[in-house]
Amino acid sequence: MVGPAKFSPSPPQTTSPDALFLGTDGARDDLFHALLADVVEDHLRWRRGPQGHPGGPRSRARPSAQVRASLAELKGRLRASAPFHSPYYIAHMASDVLVPGLVGYVAGLLYNQNNIAAEKSPSTTPLELEVAAELASLVGFDPKRAWGHLTSGGTVANFEGLWAARNLKAFPFAARELATRKGFAFRVRLPDGSAEDIRRLSPVELLNLPVPEVLRMRGRLEERAGRRAVSETLAAIGPAGEGLASLGDSGVTSIGRILLPGTKHYSWLKIAEALGVGRASLRFVFLDEKMRMKPRALEARVRECRDGGEAVLAAVTVVGSTAEGAVDPVDEVIRVQARESRKGTPFYVHADAAYGGYARALLRDDRGRLTKVQRPAGTAGAFPSTEVARALAALPGCNSVTVDPHKFGYVPVPAGAILFRDGVVRGVLATPRPYFSRGVEDWRENPPSSIGGFILEGTKPGAAAAACWLAHACVPLNRTGYGHLVARARAGADELAAAVRSTDGRALPSGRGRVKLRVKILCEPDLNILCFAANPASNRRLARMNAFNRAVFRHFAIEEVGSEGGRFILSSATFTREEYGDAPAARPGRLGIAREEWARVGQAFLMRAVVLSPAFAGEGHAARFQGELVGALTDALP
Ligand SMILES: Cc1ncc(COP(=O)(O)O)c(C=O)c1O
Repeated sequence: MVGPAKFSPSPPQTTSPDALFLGTDGARDDLFHALLADVVEDHLRWRRGPQGHPGGPRSRARPSAQVRASLAELKGRLRASAPFHSPYYIAHMASDVLVPGLVGYVAGLLYNQNNIAAEKSPSTTPLELEVAAELASLVGFDPKRAWGHLTSGGTVANFEGLWAARNLKAFPFAARELATRKGFAFRVRLPDGSAEDIRRLSPVELLNLPVPEVLRMRGRLEERAGRRAVSETLAAIGPAGEGLASLGDSGVTSIGRILLPGTKHYSWLKIAEALGVGRASLRFVFLDEKMRMKPRALEARVRECRDGGEAVLAAVTVVGSTAEGAVDPVDEVIRVQARESRKGTPFYVHADAAYGGYARALLRDDRGRLTKVQRPAGTAGAFPSTEVARALAALPGCNSVTVDPHKFGYVPVPAGAILFRDGVVRGVLATPRPYFSRGVEDWRENPPSSIGGFILEGTKPGAAAAACWLAHACVPLNRTGYGHLVARARAGADELAAAVRSTDGRALPSGRGRVKLRVKILCEPDLNILCFAANPASNRRLARMNAFNRAVFRHFAIEEVGSEGGRFILSSATFTREEYGDAPAARPGRLGIAREEWARVGQAFLMRAVVLSPAFAGEGHAARFQGELVGALTDALP
């Protein structure tokens, strides 16, 4: 019924990506109407068609007054929506979406398929697998070896990455139990390259087996002891059985620390909690002046764990951090992983590229091959910078990557994605599903013909797969397709940054005099997110500066602006010392704040702009923003 996912390199592009948005004022309504009418008609033809299903007599139904009235109410209420389609919306990671994304979603929606199981989505499960193969290829994985799928978003994708990491850490305990019970020798490779019978390993050694070694363990065990014995052992030992507590019998009190930068998305707090490893297992890694994780600090954290007799469950590296769009040095993180593994502390690396993953399209030529970076026209300076390009190029070195189509992929929510470099990871994720025809899915089938037995979510929309599939079919995952859109977004951010900078040092009217202001950008952005703050030049107090910025921000808050056009909408970010430590950029010294204030107050409130709309650049919006900012700053002065 459902064949393996076909992966075809990005098809030739025929329409400029810019022309595939409905447009702020619905300028491409003809395109939108025509495509929507086509999918609705086609769906109706499917219902009626030669293989149509038996139905009742046809009647000319008209919507009742009640339906019309309720719909009118609904439409009215929906008009209170956040205006993501507007280039003035620069608050969060949302923008106008591609018409193919919208139309694909509606087309899929009409069929209402459920990708939880292929038998509930014979049309859209293959689409999802194709999209996953495309995204795997985008991040540089070999799509034949990798495995991935769509999720509701980055939170669940991140969760699955760490779910896999945790189950891999626990797997050797089940393997040792099986070998001991059945009385066979099972040799495994240790970080130093030597081989040893797993029955002789201490709990610390079991926790510190290299990830590739653990990945191939299930297959090897099944060959030795049979599939059933392995399933039964897994159902008894470790997370799938008695839980992590059962590992305590071996003297294990912690399954390892999770090392991540303070710029992490807050989903990681939920994940640590839900996986039963606890937030206390999170260890923040220091940041440099660009808000990127410092490789040396990561190394130090690993050493700290090793010296304290603890394992490292995973390192999480962020590609496009939520607040500031910072891109961690993934290439360096991978090098640290290799070095520390050789020293006896192997760990899993997950890249949270929920936001920045699509930027890798900038490095891909028309055939999807990695090329030398060519700086896109319209962006100031070097974009992507050498460091960012290196980090993006290094993504295939990670064990798993989150990439969200509903962020930089310009498709409607919900569409996140988790991609694993090795499809065999399904061996530690599989769950039996008795009421589907394929009760136990074969974890070795790659790609699997059905998804639900290996993922966290249950019911999931086939429409999301249809939306991504059509968007990728129309906008290739290379530098002329998505790369072009990313560059447009960056060009908009450059213009906005220049507008913010040009207000620095201005003296604005206050009472009968004028007050000079410092206005600074937190750090040069890696992508297209800016954080900035303002401070009257005479103020040295952080609490006062925070209050001032809150007052300025109120002017741009959606609660204040509402959904009608004509005013810019921003978001805000609060940096805490607890998470950001003494990262140079987080300390608001450049704004004239006294040195000791950061330690005393411990948090800084900033305004945040995400310029995602490709329609921002080159339209004079930045100049208009500057006018509004000056007005808001003036109003906030005493
Ligand atoms: C870096 C990063 N990771 C994960 C997430 C979570 O994504 P979602 O809101 O789609 O669950 C976000 C959301 O902003 C993010 O910026």
